[in-house]
Amino acid sequence: MKTFNPFNTTGYISPKYFCDRESETKRIIEAINNDRNLTLYSLRRIGKTGLIRHVFFKLKKEYELFYLDIHSTSNLAEFVNVLGDSVIGKLDTTSSKFIKIIKEIFSSLKPTISFDPLTENTSVQLSIESSAEAKQSLNKIIEYIESSGKKVVIAIDEFQQIASYPEKNIEELLRSYMQKTKNISYLFAGSSKRLIISMFTDKKRPFYQSTELMYLTKIDRKKYSKFISRKYSENGKNISSESIEFILDWTKSHTFFVQYICNKLFASGVDNIDTKLVKQTMYNVLLENGDSYNQIKMLLPKNQWNLLKAISLEDGIEQIAAQSFIKKHNLSSPSSVTLALKALLQKELVTFIDEKYQLENVFLQRWIEREFKL
Ligand SMILES: Nc1ncnc2c1ncn2[C@@H]1O[C@H](COP(=O)(O)OP(=O)(O)O)[C@@H](O)[C@H]1O
Ligand SMILES: [Mg+2]
Repeated sequence: MKTFNPFNTTGYISPKYFCDRESETKRIIEAINNDRNLTLYSLRRIGKTGLIRHVFFKLKKEYELFYLDIHSTSNLAEFVNVLGDSVIGKLDTTSSKFIKIIKEIFSSLKPTISFDPLTENTSVQLSIESSAEAKQSLNKIIEYIESSGKKVVIAIDEFQQIASYPEKNIEELLRSYMQKTKNISYLFAGSSKRLIISMFTDKKRPFYQSTELMYLTKIDRKKYSKFISRKYSENGKNISSESIEFILDWTKSHTFFVQYICNKLFASGVDNIDTKLVKQTMYNVLLENGDSYNQIKMLLPKNQWNLLKAISLEDGIEQIAAQSFIKKHNLSSPSSVTLALKALLQKELVTFIDEKYQLENVFLQRWIEREFKL
């Protein structure tokens, strides 16, 4: 029989496979229970989406919960479609007002309902052709949610995406709904610190101080270590504490990368995991990703690649324009380094973490370190 791998690398399974986040979960639930909207932000792949799923798991008896990932949307119509797909048909009451609105939705928004035979999911597609139609539809959907009279939480993941919509005043529009709707709590999550911070802390913007901001840090190292050890022992396997320490160092305790290495190790079928196997597994992971990392190298302009390499080899750098750094890595001038940094930040290959410029993708950094050691 195939054993279930306790280290998931996509999505959320259940509390049993979720490490810690107890105080964070408590804080979010407390905010929701007290009608405060909350915005979660962090580096990518630290665990925002997982945490939202975890909170939803705990709240599923008391609230109607809707999760929207708007990462792939590029305008208001697409946003409304994602919202409609997640909400329409999922609330169910017999109040006459609610039924009236359902009828209106079906006559005005003309949703097409399709069934995916592979996933067995039904999806709702609205026929929205203009921004004006999108606004009307949004209004109807919100009315639909309100008229259900149920306590609702809407989580909008990758929320920074709305900043790139072509329509003006989107933030204002959404903010006005947030103020009007009494039975809906909002939970926002985003990965771009810069965009999220400016959206919620800039006095001139509609979302200014409209939600509580919560920065999600890495999982506590001791708790992660216990979690890993427990998941192996529950499955009749053993992992040395030296191995766990090595994994947490090498992955910088960055959730996704920890999960990925542990998943691979678990899948190896070996019952006693030692550092030799850990190192071999890490090497294999880098080898498997080598092609795509080589692509990055090939596609980046030379000065950006050289800077990315230098940052990797230094394991992060605080003063990007420092002469010693520039000289050691044969970079050109401080001004060209500054320009290259700007581009790497924009491409999200580099991020400012713990007071240093670092690569967000730990595997990529480890690959560069191996391939291009000084
Ligand atoms: N507390 C946790 N315990 C175990 N695995 C987690 C935890 N949080 C996240 N993960 C896993 O780590 C990976 C990255 O998390 P995710 O929530 O997608 O990050 P983000 O939304 O911040 O980009 C996912 O595969 C997820 O299943
Ligand atoms: Mg996410």
